[in-house]
Amino acid sequence: PQVCWLAPEQTAGKQKPYMYTQGQAVLNRSFFPGFDTPSVKCTYSATVKVPEGFTAVMSATSWEKQKDNTFVFKMSQPIPSYLIALAVGDIVSADVGPRSRVWAEPCLIEAAKKEYDGVIEEFLAVGEKLFGPYVWGRYDILFMPPSFPFGGMENPCLTFVTPCLLAGDRSLVDVIIHEISHSWFGNLVTNATWGEFWLNEGFTMYAQRRISTEVYGLAYTCLEAATGRALLRQHMDNTGEDHPLNKLRVVIEPGFSLFLGVNPDDTYNETPYEKGYCFVSYLAHLVGDQSKFDAFLQAYVNQFKFQSITADDALGFFLEYFPELKEKGVDSIPGFEFDRWLNTPGWPPYLPDLSPGEQLMKPADGLAELWAADGLNIEAIKAVDITAWRTYQLVYFLDQVLQKSPLPEGNVERLSKMYPKISEAQNAELRLRWCQIVLKNNLEAEYSKVKDFLHSQGKQKYTLPLYRAMWGGSESARALAMETFSATAPQLHVNVQNYVKKILGLE
Ligand code: BES
Ligand code: ZN
Repeated sequence: PQVCWLAPEQTAGKQKPYMYTQGQAVLNRSFFPGFDTPSVKCTYSATVKVPEGFTAVMSATSWEKQKDNTFVFKMSQPIPSYLIALAVGDIVSADVGPRSRVWAEPCLIEAAKKEYDGVIEEFLAVGEKLFGPYVWGRYDILFMPPSFPFGGMENPCLTFVTPCLLAGDRSLVDVIIHEISHSWFGNLVTNATWGEFWLNEGFTMYAQRRISTEVYGLAYTCLEAATGRALLRQHMDNTGEDHPLNKLRVVIEPGFSLFLGVNPDDTYNETPYEKGYCFVSYLAHLVGDQSKFDAFLQAYVNQFKFQSITADDALGFFLEYFPELKEKGVDSIPGFEFDRWLNTPGWPPYLPDLSPGEQLMKPADGLAELWAADGLNIEAIKAVDITAWRTYQLVYFLDQVLQKSPLPEGNVERLSKMYPKISEAQNAELRLRWCQIVLKNNLEAEYSKVKDFLHSQGKQKYTLPLYRAMWGGSESARALAMETFSATAPQLHVNVQNYVKKILGLE
């Protein structure tokens, strides 16, 4: 069942069926027999015969179409099993750079090309400058059917992404930069166990923001990082700071029993991403010089490429690389012990300075204050012109509004009318926040937007927060949850279905 078989209605074109696999974390064991652990790496090849009118693609360094619609794939670099991926459907491609093309159903290919034409190569080039050679040959992108459960999945040579990225304005390109960053952190240097998933995601968040800083500047990157920090805040508020999943090192397989393990997918949350990012930023802060830390990252990749490592390996190498820091005992500074970073749940003891983003955040903070007031100061609100704001500035503003919600009676209706750019947005990140605001303020008049959004896509990080909000809301919000889930369940990835069932008490 973890190989996803989609009926024609579940695709963008609605004409032909589609199939795809999603390996991470431990789903590929139902796709092929093998050592389904990230601690083992190997090359692979595959021969895939598909019906007339279909194309097969895989995460492989080379491929060839032979007679009888047979595709032969080879991955010539050793990779962990979770990175083996296959998709088959009515898919076509278009070039967007010297070593990159986009793949999508025919009805989406124009939009896909337009979204990323001419921009991918720069991210790859900056990545190579910072972290060393790109060893995978091509970097292609496959736009998945709407039910794909992730924003992006870093399958080597061929990232799988949600079609939600087709915003028309490249505003969600941080997801692409993130998946490109996995080409070094995750795909070359891999966490040896899922209990140290932060080694993949924390380093990747850091690398993503390094590339973003080089391409888009520090102010914008700090703004994006601030929205990440808001997600970590929301997550820790929801679970309680000292929840065992809020440590970087998570216990997946307790030593005392073969039967008490945890499914690593069930440990998925913001901590490995954003607390992991803080820890890597803390290491950079200890070094104190960006170019020295960049050089360290490059040496780290070179040292451990094509291997699977533990956090102890990574941190041991850090101390070896900077002997003067080792001598100073930076791994045991009270309150910031490496051991505490890894094994104590809770808010990160060190937060990187995001103040270079203040020029973008301050106006949004101010506007959110105005909207949260009793008796709206419409003059002051109208004086703030949001027409030129970037998507992430609006996202940041909406996160502030959400944090202050429920707002005084009537304010959200007013806000909705004043900013159709937000309340009628087609951009998925804005739609998610708007739906969260609608639910937190119990704005029944706009429930249909929640329903429409959940019908339009099945990304886990959009779906679960909305069901949690509905289930924690009014009678009518709960009814909306039930109604929406019974209509959309068959379209959701089986993992996502099960998590929603848990939220709704159906299991
Ligand atoms: N590798 C992850 C997706 C993943 C994680 C799949 C765990 C299965 C289990 C991917 O690189 C990722 O982190 N995607 C994010 C992108 C975001 C952080 C920019 C997503 O899908 O939201
Ligand atoms: Zn990732």
